Amino acid sequence: MTINDIKHPKVKAWVEEIAKMCQPKDVYVCDGSQEEYSRLMKEMVDSGLGIPLTKRPNSVLFRSDPSDVARVENRTYIASRKKEDAGPTNNWIDPDELKKTMSGLYTGCMKGRTMYVIPYSMGPVGSDIAKIGIELTDSAYVVCNMDIMTRVGTKVLEALGTNGEFVPCLHSVGKPLEAGETDGGKWPCAPLDKKYISHFPEERTIWSYGSGYGGNALLGKKCFALRIASVLARDEGWLAEHMLILKLTNPEGQVKYVTGAFPSACGKTNLAMLIPTIPGWKVETVGDDIAWMKFGKDGRLYAINPEAGFFGVAPGTSDSSNKNAMDTITKNTIFTNCALTKDGDIWWEGIGYDAPGEVVDWHGNPWTQDKGNKEQPPAAHPNARFTTPAKQCPSIASEWEDPRGVPIDAFLFGGRRPSTIPLVHQSRSWNHGVFLGSIVGSEITAAALDLKAGTIRRDPFAMLPFCGYNMGDYFQHWINIGKKTTAEKLPKIFYVNWFRKDADGKFIWPGYGENSRVLAWIFDRCDNRDNAVETAIGFMPKDGAINTNGLNVTAEAMKGILSVDTEGWKREIADIRENHYPKFGDKLPAELKAELDGLEKRLNG
Ligand code: OXD
Ligand code: MN
Repeated sequence: MTINDIKHPKVKAWVEEIAKMCQPKDVYVCDGSQEEYSRLMKEMVDSGLGIPLTKRPNSVLFRSDPSDVARVENRTYIASRKKEDAGPTNNWIDPDELKKTMSGLYTGCMKGRTMYVIPYSMGPVGSDIAKIGIELTDSAYVVCNMDIMTRVGTKVLEALGTNGEFVPCLHSVGKPLEAGETDGGKWPCAPLDKKYISHFPEERTIWSYGSGYGGNALLGKKCFALRIASVLARDEGWLAEHMLILKLTNPEGQVKYVTGAFPSACGKTNLAMLIPTIPGWKVETVGDDIAWMKFGKDGRLYAINPEAGFFGVAPGTSDSSNKNAMDTITKNTIFTNCALTKDGDIWWEGIGYDAPGEVVDWHGNPWTQDKGNKEQPPAAHPNARFTTPAKQCPSIASEWEDPRGVPIDAFLFGGRRPSTIPLVHQSRSWNHGVFLGSIVGSEITAAALDLKAGTIRRDPFAMLPFCGYNMGDYFQHWINIGKKTTAEKLPKIFYVNWFRKDADGKFIWPGYGENSRVLAWIFDRCDNRDNAVETAIGFMPKDGAINTNGLNVTAEAMKGILSVDTEGWKREIADIRENHYPKFGDKLPAELKAELDGLEKRLNG
């Protein structure tokens, strides 16, 4: 389609304005068809950028530039009018100044390239919870990824009509081509100090420059569905969260829907696709990364997964850690920065088997596994990814595209906490649950960062890099949500911790499919079953309430991860008081301060 096929005057005018600034060689409007996807893929394969995988039908491997391998949080900006509205956890630049800088970079930046117009819907087209974005990009790789991750094309333009609302998203890899120049099969991008991932929350606009990778470039995901959507959610009274959504069915066939917020790299995708080890239970997947939740007429919160695909971390994914993901990525999948085998398949560290002889690493160099060499650089980049359609997932729930969403019974929060935080506990109330969300974090190891071992890096609600406004106001928004309906209609809130370690530094809890034992307890809590005891920190499983049949954890170890570590919690409180809550100044809701004081009192009493 061409620009003249756009019937929405505002969209058309904006596309023309951007084309004038970026000066692409042509403008192409995506229809979202299979034919279009195949054509663009073929162009990328012909140019040497993509490598087709003989072992996986309709699947292609890409290698990015070594400077462009992950989200760039220190180049990500919330450019609100007032600095205070971005808050203490976001980078801020005055929006006029940032626009000036970026307009300079954008001028002529698409020379020699096509500008693609991607009309896309976050959420099923036509759902009351869904929203539309238009991404302009000079990357065919982005178009193909957006095709998998969102709903793209003609149907979206039709839903938009002539005056529907949309979020304008501008993206360029920031590498104009001289006359006659090509990429020569190399990943185009700009140097780090020229990369900008910018959000203008008042205008609800996204400008991204210089990176072609993941959340920096697929603007529907973190930029729209979390940073901009969190602002919309605050203004409109709903929730846009960094949460998986799963459907849990008990042996009697009853169903609960659970969402969960965990910092990046805590196994959200694995949990969303879990295969239960306890008989009769079933877990199905609605989403693995983002949940948009609105109140239904019945006063309950209904969630949709705004995405249509999974953009999962490849290393560590195996038949034993996530069989459903492995079965999803057998076809129609884009792989980025994985290793390539001689017989045309992908390979990565933690895939569950050794590298089959010499492979090509993510730099494009020959690589042979040397298991004796602990220093050997990995063949796949640690943030290598697969982009794969959600509908291919064997555990996908039949209602995953229900435009009404699914009614949520429970929220989980969690992080990597080797000590203190028990395997599971339930909040005493909504506000206590908001408190638990606000203190989410993972412990960092001394080796990883130049910080003291045992330090907790707080990642409230797993939204630290994704909240599009002041985090203190975000806490308040969560408190306010709790006042919009009755307590029994609100989801129950739980804090889980799969990552407790023993004195030898070994994980105590086996995790993965065994987490179904904890989900079963949570399920019954949602029905107010008599399976809990009240403690100073909240409700915890009664003795024997967690099914341990066939579990390889000693009774003593179970006791250890299911009891209140009073001294540990006192240290936790001190850390929150000294290092965490002060960041939010007078934006910290009084309710959270009261929850912290109440917890301390109960622990002392
Ligand atoms: C992601 C992340 O890629 O949270 O989903 O970093
Ligand atoms: Mn995520």
